[in-house]
Amino acid sequence: MSASVEPTSVDPSQSGSAPANTGATRPTRTAEALRPHAEDAYAAELAALAAQDDRPRPARWRLSPWAVATYLLGGTLPDGTVITPKYVGPRRIVEVAVTTLATDRALLLLGVPGTAKTWVSEHLAAAVSGDSTLLVQGTAGTPEEAIRYGWNYARLLAHGPSRDALVPSPVMRAMAEGMTARVEELTRIPADVQDTLITILSEKTLPIPELGQEVQAVRGFNLIATANDRDRGVNDLSSALRRRFNTVVLPLPETPEAEVDIVSRRVDQIGRSLDLPAVPDGIDEIRRVVTVFRELRDGITTDGRTKLKSPSGTLSTAEAISVVTNGLALAAHFGDGVLRAGDVAAGILGAVVRDPAADRVVWQEYLETVVRERDDWKDFYRACREVSA
Ligand SMILES: Nc1ncnc2c1ncn2[C@@H]1O[C@H](COP(=O)(O)OP(=O)(O)O)[C@@H](O)[C@H]1O
Ligand SMILES: [Mg+2]
Repeated sequence: MSASVEPTSVDPSQSGSAPANTGATRPTRTAEALRPHAEDAYAAELAALAAQDDRPRPARWRLSPWAVATYLLGGTLPDGTVITPKYVGPRRIVEVAVTTLATDRALLLLGVPGTAKTWVSEHLAAAVSGDSTLLVQGTAGTPEEAIRYGWNYARLLAHGPSRDALVPSPVMRAMAEGMTARVEELTRIPADVQDTLITILSEKTLPIPELGQEVQAVRGFNLIATANDRDRGVNDLSSALRRRFNTVVLPLPETPEAEVDIVSRRVDQIGRSLDLPAVPDGIDEIRRVVTVFRELRDGITTDGRTKLKSPSGTLSTAEAISVVTNGLALAAHFGDGVLRAGDVAAGILGAVVRDPAADRVVWQEYLETVVRERDDWKDFYRACREVSA
């Protein structure tokens, strides 16, 4: 039979192009997984939602569209179960995304890096199908087989082409089982390989000419793709393919408060799994990280008085989350457990200065004209001077 999958080798980025994974058995999940899949990490919330959800569910959906939206946005169920918000942002965006999945159009999540495209895609698949692992990671080298199917060559040589020798892609499995498939970074995939998706999304069928057969998608199948609009641009999607998708743009957080809220929530969740100190003591420091990121990103100070040059990096919410998480780890292991300026300074510098020449100039200017002038930022100024030297 098929090679068994080692319990620890659950690497979603591999499953897209790994023909060795026949898909016949799902990888075993261990409680010790460093990063459990959404459907495992939030199994209790999903079960509570399923139990109390009395609205109609589309074919093969685990939850009604309303319950899927509640899972993403958070809320309190009639029995008091608290559903934590996964996505913090406009409710309408989530409603449109969920609704799209219940139609015959696929969903394209578009946005700059770090706007939670991958995160939302994973949680949508977990809530709708109970499985977020039917994933193809798009790269410049993604072959057609990663989207259609491959062959187990030992069996192909021994017995000739047969369904037994065929290795289904995650997309093929999703079609056959009426599940949600995910394609990450769609626009990085070469155009001719992308076009494989046209037949799948328009005809809802995947021909297997070698066998004179086809796999027809059953109800419940749909696909979520993510794409970066900073990459080579979504123009790379052929118009034929683009028409198969409903596009939902995930925005950067509108206000500083919203961004602080996202960062502190996520840092709290990540920190708990790493046994890091609690966030509330460090909330002022989080505000400062977010302020620095937003000012540099927007090219203007919060008070609107000083124009700034923007560095080459994206300075996304996701990067703010990682700067703060690293800062908390520093505070826990080498400080007094409270997040301070010195714990985030190096992380901020690393995020801002991507290009050693140009970005360093931008940073120095910001440091000397903005940071230095703020009376309550003296500690931060000193910490930044220390790491910038
Ligand atoms: N609006 C948001 N709500 C919740 N989490 C967010 C938000 N924006 C960013 N994040 C967090 O940022 C991190 C990175 O997001 P990710 O999905 O990898 O970004 P993308 O795929 O858009 O580049 C995730 O941990 C996610 O929780
Ligand atoms: Mg992503």
